[in-house]
Amino acid sequence: MAMRKHIVRWSILFLIGVSIGLLFTYREAGNSLDDGITPLSPDDVPAATVSKEVKSHAARGTINLGGPFSLTDHNGKAVTEKDYAGSYKLLFFGFTFCPMVCPTELQKMTLIMNELGEAGAKIQPLFITVDPERDDVEAIKIYVEQFHPRLIGLTGTREQIDDVMNAYRVYATKVENEMMDGYMINHSAYTYLMDPEDELIAIYPAKDTAMDIVNDIKGRAL
Ligand code: NI
Repeated sequence: MAMRKHIVRWSILFLIGVSIGLLFTYREAGNSLDDGITPLSPDDVPAATVSKEVKSHAARGTINLGGPFSLTDHNGKAVTEKDYAGSYKLLFFGFTFCPMVCPTELQKMTLIMNELGEAGAKIQPLFITVDPERDDVEAIKIYVEQFHPRLIGLTGTREQIDDVMNAYRVYATKVENEMMDGYMINHSAYTYLMDPEDELIAIYPAKDTAMDIVNDIKGRAL
């Protein structure tokens, strides 16, 4: 009896040890793609998210995000943030091989744009790939055409993409997956609302529904 208790106790300690080890390995792996930039974490988001306490433009300046970029749009045209000057922007980062999160979020963005109607005319929806190696201009074009007609897809060199990901503190890490042409990418899935001067207005986590976001945007009277 005493021996058995002993084994149970050591097994529990062993499992705790393994769990802690896995946690650290996971965290280490999670940082492999960024160069010392702190990825946006859920802890950062409450200040800027669409929670009831946050009123119009309250998020402005609370998180320093965004900035200039140099990319190529889905028609092959070189663009910078200046090409969208004067527009609000709804921005989402992802990759065209993504089986679940990206299609869901881009469907949501499509629904938001449709629901906003006239108010949506001031907003430019943008999709930026985190996987420029596979998402060339052609792949991006085919992909964005499945969603809202005004959605613009953006790609670039690895360096250009890293720069814009860092500017928006996007987390993305490759995970080997033979079924998905070699790899998958785990990535953060926030939708950013930026104002015409490229200041952050709000960050919407994936749990926000299209109607949550529509109501939030309408409440802000852009
Ligand atoms: Ni995705």
